[in-house]
Amino acid sequence: MAKKKLRIGVLFGGRSGEHEVSLLSAASILKALDRSRFEIVPIAITKAGQWLGGDSARALLSGEAQPLALEAAAESSTELMRYSAALTNAIDVIFPVLHGTFGEDGTIQGLLELADLPYVGSGVLGSAAGMDKDVMKRLFAAAGLPQTPHVAITRSEWRADPRRCQREIEKALSYPLFVKPANLGSSVGISKVKVRAELASAMDLAASYDRKLVIEQGVGGPGAKPRELEVAVLGNDAPEASVIGEIIPAKEFYDYEAKYQLHGPDESVSVIPAKLTAAQQKQIRAIALAAFRACDCAGLARVDFLMEPAQKGFTPKVFLNEINTMPGFTSISMYPKLWQASGLSYKELLSRLVELGMERHAEKQATAFSR
Ligand SMILES: Nc1ncnc2c1ncn2[C@@H]1O[C@H](COP(=O)(O)OP(=O)(O)O)[C@@H](O)[C@H]1O
Ligand SMILES: [Mg+2]
Repeated sequence: MAKKKLRIGVLFGGRSGEHEVSLLSAASILKALDRSRFEIVPIAITKAGQWLGGDSARALLSGEAQPLALEAAAESSTELMRYSAALTNAIDVIFPVLHGTFGEDGTIQGLLELADLPYVGSGVLGSAAGMDKDVMKRLFAAAGLPQTPHVAITRSEWRADPRRCQREIEKALSYPLFVKPANLGSSVGISKVKVRAELASAMDLAASYDRKLVIEQGVGGPGAKPRELEVAVLGNDAPEASVIGEIIPAKEFYDYEAKYQLHGPDESVSVIPAKLTAAQQKQIRAIALAAFRACDCAGLARVDFLMEPAQKGFTPKVFLNEINTMPGFTSISMYPKLWQASGLSYKELLSRLVELGMERHAEKQATAFSR
């Protein structure tokens, strides 16, 4: 008799600014998941936060969403809990293909923990830590990992006394700076600040997206762009690192437009494997694994680096930039491409991620929660 197929709920869309990126990732994943092993249940979350199943979910994916006649929809959090209770019976494992807020930040992971459902990727803590650039940097610092200096300032501090904030920033860092909302992605709200006169508008912009701002020393100095390197990490307690890829942004930095909106000859380019010495590769892959562990990640993460440009007579320094616990996941996204270049196909990678999610859940079952 054929073994019963594992039922995977693929969760996509979501309320974040990366809703559209999630739809692209999910469309690729739904196409490639191994049908001989898995039965697939698409579950969409609209931009307004409504949950859709069945045909309504497929309609959202293909861009024909008219979520009027809903097979299954949940609008309030109580309904959401009922919905997840129903899911528990119908689904064996969830693949949350959600990027950014309410998806990559531990919130959905918390719901899945309460529902006692296995899921792909990092848990509540790893997801939340990876989402918050300030907390992430503190964890990296505690692990002794190399990163560019930064200052964290709350929106209320900035609004109460911008001059004092400016002094604090300029005491710790020198221009050019990068100003970022602490919790966002896809470069939304990020500015490069070359001179003092540009600081206030960059801070105001970031403050419109988050209550916490991160201001960083620019890597590469005033004249040059840093190299942007990315490593894919896969595993739970014994993670492995892929070959290293390089992004060559089409603009002064890898902003939203350079990530998603420029196409054809103007497009940002990726190079796999990146041109690096054996010693540099070894160092970067070791830091990627240490970063994964420092944030208590599980399943997968893409670890991004900024490296000083090559300069005669200097050894370029490499800095950790960030960790992404649910990186872009179309078949041509960096994370799957790095594994492909390391010998693992897109389809095999997806199966492995599901297995890792099941393994992590099984391991948790062996944990006592009271005495
Ligand atoms: N300290 C920095 N020095 C130089 N470039 C930076 C720095 N921080 C960010 N950047 C540029 O901005 C881009 C987006 O920043 P990042 O922190 O990765 O935000 P996001 O989470 O939105 O991807 C980077 O890929 C890089 O091009
Ligand atoms: Mg980034």
